[in-house]
Amino acid sequence: MTAVDLDARIPNNVGLADDPKVRRALEHWQPRYLEWWHDMGPTDFEEHEVYLRTAIDVGAKGWANFGHVKMPDYRWGIFLTPPSDGETVGFGDEAGTRAWQSVPGEHRGALRRIITTQADTEPASVEQQRLLGHMAPSLYDLRNLFQVNVEEGRHLWAMVYLLHKYFGSDGRDEADELLMRRSGDQDKPRILGTFNKPCDHWLSFFAFTMFTDRDGKYQLAALRESGFSPLAHSCEFMLTEEAFHLFVGETGMERIIVRAAELEREDPNGDVRAAGGIDFDTIQRAINYWFSTCLDLFGGEISSNAADYFAAGLKGRFREQQRYEDHRALDSMYRMEAVQGDRVSAMEVPLRNAMNEVLRDDYIQDCQRAVDRWNSRLEAMGNERRLALPSRRFHRHQGLHAPFSFDPQGNLISAAELERMRDQWLLSEADNDYLREIMQPVTEPGKVAHWIAPPSKGIGGQDRSFEYVRR
Ligand SMILES: [Fe+2]
Ligand SMILES: [Fe+2]
Repeated sequence: MTAVDLDARIPNNVGLADDPKVRRALEHWQPRYLEWWHDMGPTDFEEHEVYLRTAIDVGAKGWANFGHVKMPDYRWGIFLTPPSDGETVGFGDEAGTRAWQSVPGEHRGALRRIITTQADTEPASVEQQRLLGHMAPSLYDLRNLFQVNVEEGRHLWAMVYLLHKYFGSDGRDEADELLMRRSGDQDKPRILGTFNKPCDHWLSFFAFTMFTDRDGKYQLAALRESGFSPLAHSCEFMLTEEAFHLFVGETGMERIIVRAAELEREDPNGDVRAAGGIDFDTIQRAINYWFSTCLDLFGGEISSNAADYFAAGLKGRFREQQRYEDHRALDSMYRMEAVQGDRVSAMEVPLRNAMNEVLRDDYIQDCQRAVDRWNSRLEAMGNERRLALPSRRFHRHQGLHAPFSFDPQGNLISAAELERMRDQWLLSEADNDYLREIMQPVTEPGKVAHWIAPPSKGIGGQDRSFEYVRR
């Protein structure tokens, strides 16, 4: 394995010093990346010193170095977990053959598309979150937002390295395009739907890091299984960082829920909004909105692309090696429910064609675990309210269920009925207005906004009253 080079213009453990062609290409891309960060990142906070974690290695000690840094000075580096000897393709038609250290010609187009699509989500989320600093509920949360932002930037670097290193001039073009698309732009939108949606208050931010970053976790986990070794090892290290983003989302939602229960108890009429908080119906609508939007990211329920990616050894299942014995998945069927005729009924699909749905199952289970945790907090507080994930059919815009309308329980309803109930089931403009209105920034160390409970502890070895962001 190549040693870590921290003094290079681009810190890395991939031997850039000995790879002049790729190094020059990346050094050429670097100023344009910084320009993009300056235009589309959290620009208004560039002068602030933020207590950030910077990765300087992939080992246990290297990846979590804390210190106050100005974000534009953050050292975005390229780090891959080291490959092990004798790696093999873990699944599909070529299971057991040697893993690829370069891109096989026949998979070039597919791999380029997979990597570009993953890469595009990283800058997109930074763009979506760029103004949230102005309404942060505490310095702790502000710091966490910026930590997520700089790490999404680093994930972009990880993917851009692969494009430059393995895809020649096509890869360079893709890398340039990644800095030209803009979240929500009419003419040059980001590739995937969710990444063009506004995320303009902190209920959406926490729901986004809970549900959308979790989609990222499952996509990266499926790519970590890839027969293309450099992709597998990039994803592995990205997952280490991603775990923190999920922590931000899950605990952020939990703190809002706990606060709602407190305010409901304190208000004479049990009216959380009257008490200046975020009520359970609004929280439920945020869950419905972001969860359903994120389910679309997994792609169609029945997909020949997914079957091809699996057959080719490009994209596997979640923990393919640990959880499955049959890595070919050729002879099994998958049972799913969909509208047939005028009702929902079960159907069987060859397993390989259902690989998107298999990954979606694991994702839903993980989301359910978090919701159960929130509900057990409510139970412990003596609150009767329970939150729930909507049915996977509800409010879908991709795949089998998209042409039909369902209620949150998954019952088939008319489009008119869905339209009539929309504002009760999904985050509405009125909700968004209210949420932005109550979200005034809190910048005093240790203080937390009224609508959210304080975190259970501080971060990076500091306590909750630490000055995580300073001017
Ligand atoms: Fe990411
Ligand atoms: Fe993330």
